[in-house]
Amino acid sequence: RWSEFVQIKEVGPRDGLQNEKQWLSTSDKVHWINTLSESGLTEIEYSSFVHPKWVPALADAHEVGRRIKRYPNVRYSALIPNMKGLELALDAGIDGASVFMSSSETHNQKNINKSIDETYPVLEEVIHEAKEAGKHVTGYVSTVFDCPYEGKVNPEQVLRVCDRLLDAGVDDLSLGDTIGTAVPAQVDQLLGKMLKNFPGEKLIMHFHDTRGMAIANIMRSMEHGIARFDSSIGGLGGCPFAPGAAGNVATNDVLYLLNGLGIKTGIDENKLQEAALYIQSKLGKSLPSKSLAYVASQ
Ligand code: HMG
Ligand code: MG
Repeated sequence: RWSEFVQIKEVGPRDGLQNEKQWLSTSDKVHWINTLSESGLTEIEYSSFVHPKWVPALADAHEVGRRIKRYPNVRYSALIPNMKGLELALDAGIDGASVFMSSSETHNQKNINKSIDETYPVLEEVIHEAKEAGKHVTGYVSTVFDCPYEGKVNPEQVLRVCDRLLDAGVDDLSLGDTIGTAVPAQVDQLLGKMLKNFPGEKLIMHFHDTRGMAIANIMRSMEHGIARFDSSIGGLGGCPFAPGAAGNVATNDVLYLLNGLGIKTGIDENKLQEAALYIQSKLGKSLPSKSLAYVASQ
């Protein structure tokens, strides 16, 4: 009924840390990312080359990129808003560029200070240049279910944005439940529409877990044949420009689910726990993941 192998992209060092009040030192980030690299993950989004004034917790993206060890089986990607970000990222070293925009106008404006129409030419140039440089390019589309400012988002609008990004040359799309409001019926509605237009291999689902629905939504996505998900160790994270958004679904919880279902991921649970306990101790607080809390209590 579903794929035998699921690919998890770890976004904790980017989506996770971008919203943390307590900033990690560059050395701690590097150590943490190196530990994640040893876990068998095949993609790690290591930071974000956005304006440091907007996301100060990731102001050291360039140094992180320069200092992390590069494991040959891992794709190291970073979030890129514009050409300035791409230039810095290429200099720091990336295998993948993640461009991003929203399917709702107000979130796009608050997040990247541009209308949707003004965003396309900026991203088109980044996508083109990143492809020229031989990089994998993922297009994040935010607020695909609900927008914190506008409420329900019409799947037609999501489709329009996805079409434009695919035309511009992205290799795949990551569909963001930015504020973690979706329930499986919304997943059915959106994926029903998307899968009539694009092959499932192009799609990654990116669930935030604000209301505890992410695992149910992942399960439902897998029933539609989706086999790629973004998650964050321990459930760290949130979008600083989406009020009320909690962290991503926890990598630990997704792995627990997939292991239990006998679905392969290539990820070593013990190494992942080590990385989760490390970041938890550095931040000095318990992270939301229930399976991590259980392991930590043993
Ligand atoms: P802007 O102010 O409109 O940019 O910001 P600008 O092009 O007008 O430039 C203004 C100044 O910023 C200039 O400097 C530029 O050089 C500088 P000045 O001449 O004034 O000295 N600048 C930069 N500096 C460093 N790095 C750059 C850069 N770009 C311009 N890349 C911008 C536009 C997009 C840069 C800004 O709005 C920004 O950085 N936003 C950050 C948004 C963000 O990081 N949001 C969170 C991530 S998205 C997310 O979490 C959702 C996701 O997880 C999926 C989901 O959950 O749905 C992906
Ligand atoms: Mg996100």
